[in-house]
Parts: sequence; C-alpha cells; structure tokens
Amino acid sequence: MSIVVVYESMFGNTRQVAEAIADGLGPYGPVTLVNVNDASAKDAAESASLLVVGGPTHVHGMSRQTSRDEAPSWANDPAKKLTLEPLAPGTGVREWIDGLDRVPPLFAAFDTRADIARLLSGAASGRIEHELKARGSHAVLPGASFLVSKDTVLEDGELDRARDWAASVGKAAGIPITT
Ligand SMILES: Cc1cc2nc3c(=O)[nH]c(=O)nc-3n(C[C@H](O)[C@H](O)[C@H](O)COP(=O)(O)O)c2cc1C
Repeated sequence: MSIVVVYESMFGNTRQVAEAIADGLGPYGPVTLVNVNDASAKDAAESASLLVVGGPTHVHGMSRQTSRDEAPSWANDPAKKLTLEPLAPGTGVREWIDGLDRVPPLFAAFDTRADIARLLSGAASGRIEHELKARGSHAVLPGASFLVSKDTVLEDGELDRARDWAASVGKAAGIPITT
C-alpha cells in the first residue's frame, strides 16, 4: 500500500496540517508528502494506493488562480504577519486533480478554513471529495477541516487532531500497522 499526502498552502497552515497527517499515517508504512507544485506530485499520486489531499478553503471551496493571486497582498500587509510559502505560486488542488490521468482507488480529503460555522466558511475538502468521487475514487472517511484563527494561525490542538484523523484514515483504509 503506497500512501501519498499532497497539499496546497499559501501561508504554511495547510502544510503544517499535511506534515501532521503524514506523521499520523507513519505507522501504516512509508508516506510520501509532497506539495501540489512539486514536479513529482502527479506521478506519486497516480501510483498511490491511498491519496490524502488537502488545501486551504478559498471563497467557500477550492482555491482558484484569482483567489491565489490575492495571497501575496495578504503576505505584504505587515498587520497580518503572514509569510508566503515558497511553493505557493503556481497551481492549486483543483487544477492538479483535473490534470491527473489516473486517480488512486482510495482517498481522504482535508482542508484548512476559518474557525466559524461551516455554513459560512465553506470547506475545500467537500469540493475535493466531490471531484475525486466523480473520477471514481473511494473516500475512506469523510473529509476533515482544520481551523485557523482570524489571524490565519492554526487553532490550538489542530495538529494533534490532524494526526489523530490521519490514524483513523489509515485504519479505515484497512492498512495493517507496520511499526
Ligand atoms: C483569497 C482568500 C479567500 C479565502 N476565503 C475563505 C473562505 O471562503 N472561507 C474560509 O473559511 N477561509 C477563507 N480564507 C482563509 C483561508 O482558508 C486560510 O487563509 C487558510 O486556511 C490558511 O491556510 P494556508 O496557510 O495553508 O494558506 C481565504 C483566504 C484567502 C487568501
């Protein structure tokens, strides 16, 4: 069973969640953690048995080029105290999924979003699920959202929750624990 975690991140929060998810999946075998803009992401995902994929919620769903183009202005606002990730510019999960020639048999989706009611925030994971299911992949668990504050900082306990969710994903996928 090859496990691949692919993420998109503007300011590092989704990257940190993805790292915690890769950590939580560790007992289930080797995990490849890769940014959506890394050249190896497509090949890694197309040959995976289980793909865990996530990104930041933008405008109630997955980012678009127009929403990603807003991220540098957030990072350039000294009041926000945000730093743009080196791999932020480029594609997003939406376009990356569209570009896959083959989807893995199993997946789980996650996102980061504002710490407000989901009805108001939206959640990128719901849209990721929709796209991958439409492509014939099977969701091992419902998608998960990890919350950032109004200052775009992960809320306390979210990385632990991400690790725990990842362990549930591995279990639901039926992967035997190897360590
Ligand atoms: C252009 C833009 C639009 C956003 N729209 C939403 C939104 O509709 N709902 C929400 O919960 N968060 C929204 N956010 C906040 C992001 O979800 C938040 O910045 C993200 O979770 C941080 O993850 P990152 O550091 O990995 O980019 C938006 C952020 C940006 C930059």
